[in-house]
Amino acid sequence: MSMTRRVLLSSAGSPLLMSATDSGGLLTTPEQAAGRKKLRVGIVGCGRMGQYFAEVYRRSPDTELAAIAEYNDERRKVVGERFQVKALFKEAPEMVRSEKLDIVAIITPTKFMKAAVLAAAEAGVNGISTDKPIAAKLADADAMVEACNRRKIVFAGGNLQRARWQTQVAARRLRSGAYGRITGAAVMGYGGEISGGGCQHVAVLRLLTGAEITQVEAFGYPAKTLAPDADDQGLMINGRWRLSSGIDCMVFGEREPFSGVEVRAERAAVRWSWNAPQLFDGSGKTAPRKEIDPAYPPFPWAKMLETPPLRMDDDYLVASIRSFVDAVHLGRPSSSLFVSGHDLRQSLEAAIASKVSAIEGGRTIALPLADRSLTLMPSPYRWLGGDAVGNPQTVKEASGESR
Ligand SMILES: NC(=O)c1ccc[n+]([C@@H]2O[C@H](COP(=O)([O-])OP(=O)(O)OC[C@H]3O[C@@H](n4cnc5c(N)ncnc54)[C@H](O)[C@@H]3O)[C@@H](O)[C@H]2O)c1
Repeated sequence: MSMTRRVLLSSAGSPLLMSATDSGGLLTTPEQAAGRKKLRVGIVGCGRMGQYFAEVYRRSPDTELAAIAEYNDERRKVVGERFQVKALFKEAPEMVRSEKLDIVAIITPTKFMKAAVLAAAEAGVNGISTDKPIAAKLADADAMVEACNRRKIVFAGGNLQRARWQTQVAARRLRSGAYGRITGAAVMGYGGEISGGGCQHVAVLRLLTGAEITQVEAFGYPAKTLAPDADDQGLMINGRWRLSSGIDCMVFGEREPFSGVEVRAERAAVRWSWNAPQLFDGSGKTAPRKEIDPAYPPFPWAKMLETPPLRMDDDYLVASIRSFVDAVHLGRPSSSLFVSGHDLRQSLEAAIASKVSAIEGGRTIALPLADRSLTLMPSPYRWLGGDAVGNPQTVKEASGESR
């Protein structure tokens, strides 16, 4: 977002802003976390993304990076040295049997997530996380969510944009009624990879509206992407999603004029587009409508982002992990998380329902889907990982020498 505070409509005294306490209780601060006992964390899959998770856990004052399960022998050795972890394993089952862990963070390619989640749940850990897409088949996503629910294990959803601090604050304001009743929503740019990148749009829409998608009507193009067994690459969706709150959300595949989610309320509109959400005056008294400085409170963990390889843009990864660690420490349920496994499952379900409706020329499909065997394959990289598709991470990169 290129707008600076100077060019935004002044927020001083605006009835559209809430007090500085509107972020109260969302996350504990580094100072509060410093007094806690350290939770023991095991990482499963320590490739490109897993190394960022490892970095956040080793920098957190209330967690200890205790073990790593990494399939690739050379990479396992390198990341073990880089993160000074001696308890190294090839796969999750050996790790969770041998180590007493509180948290298991699974950042393997999608194909291997279910087996690792079930092994960790069986071992009785307190918290498990995965990343997107959580599965190809809905029944597999259900099995993970249910295994964790049954055992009251906190089940988190990893590095999703909805975890961004400002997005969480914006959602809290919208859902508290600060801008009046929510009246409409639109999703833009739902195309290209609907269970991959599109996962983000669904997760933000549900967060900002506090509602679930209950009905889908969709059209898709180009035609070859509508083959039932075609994977999640290239399909563009236009359509309409009915939400449990009664509003209809219009969905567009194209990224113009923006890619993201806009939610309108009686007095304001909030737009997320891969960054801190923008706030617009929705009174109808200004045309074009004016952007307002949302005056977000500072992210309590921003300092963690100052040292490479983490970057300021990794704020949503840190926020996601911090909300997860808080939930495990404080005994909060998965529904308290900035991103949960349930959120990942709902994103997959919306993507599958949209494709099913599009294949049938826009037929109305009710959610939850009755047929849990429905499947949408992710791209080969997401499904199998870099090593399998000829794009392996080099030893130099894994050692942290280059990003
Ligand atoms: N949320 C995001 O922004 C985001 C960004 C990038 C990747 N991802 C997701 O993260 C996942 C991993 O992506 P990546 O870029 O790190 O891939 P990667 O190929 O760089 O790393 C995956 C690692 O997992 C290891 N692995 C594979 N199977 C394993 C198993 N059974 N047990 C232990 N280790 C195993 C591989 O050896 C590899 O080191 C994918 O699902 C991808 O879609 C999410």
